[in-house]
Amino acid sequence: MEARLPMAQDKELSLDPENWAELRKLGHKMLDDMMNHLEHVRDRPIMQRMPDEARSAFMQPPPMQGIGAEAAYRDFVEQLLLHQSNFNKHPRFWGFVVGTGSPSGMLADMLASGLNVNVVGGPLASTMLEMQVTAWMKGLLGFPAEAGGILVSGGSMANLLGLTVARNSKSGEVKRLGARRGMTIYGSEEMHVCIEKAVEMLGIGSDNMRKVPVDSEYRIDVQALEKRIREDRAAGLEPFCVVGNAGTVNTGSFDDLEALADLCSREALWLHVDGAFGAWAAIVPELRHLVKGLERADSVAFDLHKWMYMPYDVGCVLFKRQSDQVRTFSNRPDYFAMSKDTPPQFADFGFELSRSFRALKVWMGLKENGVAKYSALVKQNVGQAGYLKTLVESRPELELMAPVPLNTVCFRYRGRGIPDAALDELNKGLSMRLMFSGAGAASETKVRGRAALRVCITNHRTTRRDLEEFVEAAAQMGAMMAQGQGKNPQMH
Ligand SMILES: Cc1ncc(COP(=O)(O)O)c(C=O)c1O
Repeated sequence: MEARLPMAQDKELSLDPENWAELRKLGHKMLDDMMNHLEHVRDRPIMQRMPDEARSAFMQPPPMQGIGAEAAYRDFVEQLLLHQSNFNKHPRFWGFVVGTGSPSGMLADMLASGLNVNVVGGPLASTMLEMQVTAWMKGLLGFPAEAGGILVSGGSMANLLGLTVARNSKSGEVKRLGARRGMTIYGSEEMHVCIEKAVEMLGIGSDNMRKVPVDSEYRIDVQALEKRIREDRAAGLEPFCVVGNAGTVNTGSFDDLEALADLCSREALWLHVDGAFGAWAAIVPELRHLVKGLERADSVAFDLHKWMYMPYDVGCVLFKRQSDQVRTFSNRPDYFAMSKDTPPQFADFGFELSRSFRALKVWMGLKENGVAKYSALVKQNVGQAGYLKTLVESRPELELMAPVPLNTVCFRYRGRGIPDAALDELNKGLSMRLMFSGAGAASETKVRGRAALRVCITNHRTTRRDLEEFVEAAAQMGAMMAQGQGKNPQMH
């Protein structure tokens, strides 16, 4: 039988609501609920365990028939919102390097989704806005107006793009033939793991990544680096890039970027800086000396969802010369319908073609608060880290494990006369207990091989009082665990 062609009177489908007023009302409710959620973020636990029955809701197959927007929202509240840990939104969350986001940022994301632009380029206001945001980033980090840049999902992606251009910069052939054997890349042993992952993805291979030792302040040993480069060249290898750290993930330390820039210009190497959070020292006059030399880098990767407190996700990579960036990423097939003379578009600046309008929250956040407020908040977090350091140092049962150049404090409970191995066990369990008790969330790390609590403050909600209570709780809980340790050596 022949299929019937659709008739003009047949009802056609759309995802627009049948009743706009109802959806609008639901939208207002969502907004109110979410504002309440954020307003009372301090009153809810940092971390909560999810009951088993709540987990099972996420094992269901996809619904074949819809339940409607209101019921879907009810499921969001009951299945997710009620069980979702506060985690990085909480004023006492200082684990890893995570941002808190902001209520206004949430609203900006809603506007961006409403506009639903795929920010590819073209003569659109959204294109202009993102170009303006990139120009602001260049200006704030001391890059020249002719530099290139692009917003991406985060620091890992920004580093990947930076290193891709670094790899290609040595030879146009890499694009065609792939990475050459013997291309070597350098950085300190404190580099973030995303650099190693990028090196693996780029076909350079982690065996060709040199992790150079650091000094007592966790800064790359520049002499050791220079020696290693010379040895590698003598062995016929092809050094091409040095990665500098502006704020290492573990202790927040800064490599001497000026010395790295000198070395790279002498040796004709690309200088890429991972400034995921530390690059923002550039907007604080009292901290700017830490990033001296950043403006000489060939590329820099950084985040806005960490220390600029924008909601996830948004990071950025800048390139000293836009031409390097475009040479790597530009590839215009016929179906892009762009003539060769069309000025570079976002697709020529990075890997992604479909891109969300993440620039909007940056633009609105900067307009709402001004750079001065972000600068004051970064400074406030650094001051809080300094305060925490003093609190730790004032208690003999606690031990500072690393210098505190920025916003990150590594310390441990040491008690009295407890051997290092037992202290490692104790401190590994301590961070979890502190988090579940509500005292505060630090992450666990190792500093020179010893377990430590790591507090990294990129949180605009934290107060000094939070830190005082956290230190008090760490000392008390550490003492309790130390007492119980004889009875229960397998402490978790
Ligand atoms: C120094 C450093 N580089 C890179 C990254 C990766 O950034 P993202 O988590 O935004 O991918 C981090 C994350 O904490 C970091 O601290």
